[in-house]
Amino acid sequence: MASCPRCRARLDAAFRCDTCGEHYPSLASARVLLPEPSSQLEYWQRQLGLIIRRGIDTKNTLLEQVSAAPLGVASQTRLLGLARAILEQVEDVAAVLGPALGGQLPPEGEVFLPRGALDYSSYLHRDWAWPGGPDGENESALAAVRRVAEGRALGRVLVIGAGACRLAYDLHCECGATETSALDIDPFLLVMAEAVIRGASPALTETSVNAPEVDPVSHRWTLATPRGALGEDRFRFFLADGTEPPFVDGSFDTVVTPWFIDQVPTDLPGLVGKLQRLLAPGGRWLNHGPLIYPPDKLPIAAWYSREEIFELARDAGFTIGAWESASLPCLVSPLTGRGKIETVLTFAAART
Ligand SMILES: C[S@@+](CC[C@H](N)C(=O)[O-])C[C@H]1O[C@@H](n2cnc3c(N)ncnc32)[C@H](O)[C@@H]1O
Repeated sequence: MASCPRCRARLDAAFRCDTCGEHYPSLASARVLLPEPSSQLEYWQRQLGLIIRRGIDTKNTLLEQVSAAPLGVASQTRLLGLARAILEQVEDVAAVLGPALGGQLPPEGEVFLPRGALDYSSYLHRDWAWPGGPDGENESALAAVRRVAEGRALGRVLVIGAGACRLAYDLHCECGATETSALDIDPFLLVMAEAVIRGASPALTETSVNAPEVDPVSHRWTLATPRGALGEDRFRFFLADGTEPPFVDGSFDTVVTPWFIDQVPTDLPGLVGKLQRLLAPGGRWLNHGPLIYPPDKLPIAAWYSREEIFELARDAGFTIGAWESASLPCLVSPLTGRGKIETVLTFAAART
């Protein structure tokens, strides 16, 4: 059950707040539950405008470099290939986001691109395009969460910081979820994921300006679900702030935080208390992700280790269940062979 992000009152079925009068619109089928939804939508239209402008600028810079200096055939091929691929990637995003947002606006004023925009396209590639397999990244994430969930059905699920949504989708299909709410603050990820989960197969070009090979310098992937589409009756999307989840207390049987608790909240103890309140009695918090804190955001005292997180969870009224920690590959691209390895902590904590 959703609550108003401005005044916390319960929203009606049309996402209207009787208390403060705000109505929360949707972007495709993703509900925008942010305090100033109209200005937020306009800001996202300007961000899309900025992404398109930057794509065109980068393409033009590359073409100027081709004509400015005498270059070998391989260099020309690399630069021309990159110019084409960068524009193609921007057009792919605009083809899905543009209609959902009702178009783009000129990027005037204070418009920035969060890490969200195109930097995160590798999340979409990994989740819905790169080849998987028994040890694939998506498969390993699902398997780890499954192990700590110990076979109990997930029921009503909220996934906070769902990103490109593959783990949310896999848990929904495989682990007894009755309905899933996928929440993220980034429309560039969530609206692309929404299109895929609803059954579309958008193209999304992958490229790296730091290309290790001229051929191929890019790959045009098709994003698609492995197990078919899910409708709004069972799988919903929310553009909202995961540090202030806009839902009524006790709304969920399971809250999942994938790769979220270290990167996003500035007050982890506060967030753990909020997760506890979102859960129905006996409900569970399932976490999966590393503990790599952004150094510019938090003092070292708040770079909590596993033991400290378990302590915070116990203090908030959770009982720690199964847990595991493993070193796992992360976002290793088949195009570039690049990626990273992270120590990933997966645990279940039950609301007592
Ligand atoms: C490290 S990524 C993880 C994405 C996804 N869970 C995964 O495992 O691939 C962190 C995610 O948190 C989202 N995010 C950042 N700030 C947020 C906020 N305040 N509320 C909700 N989501 C947020 C980002 O857009 C991004 O999708």
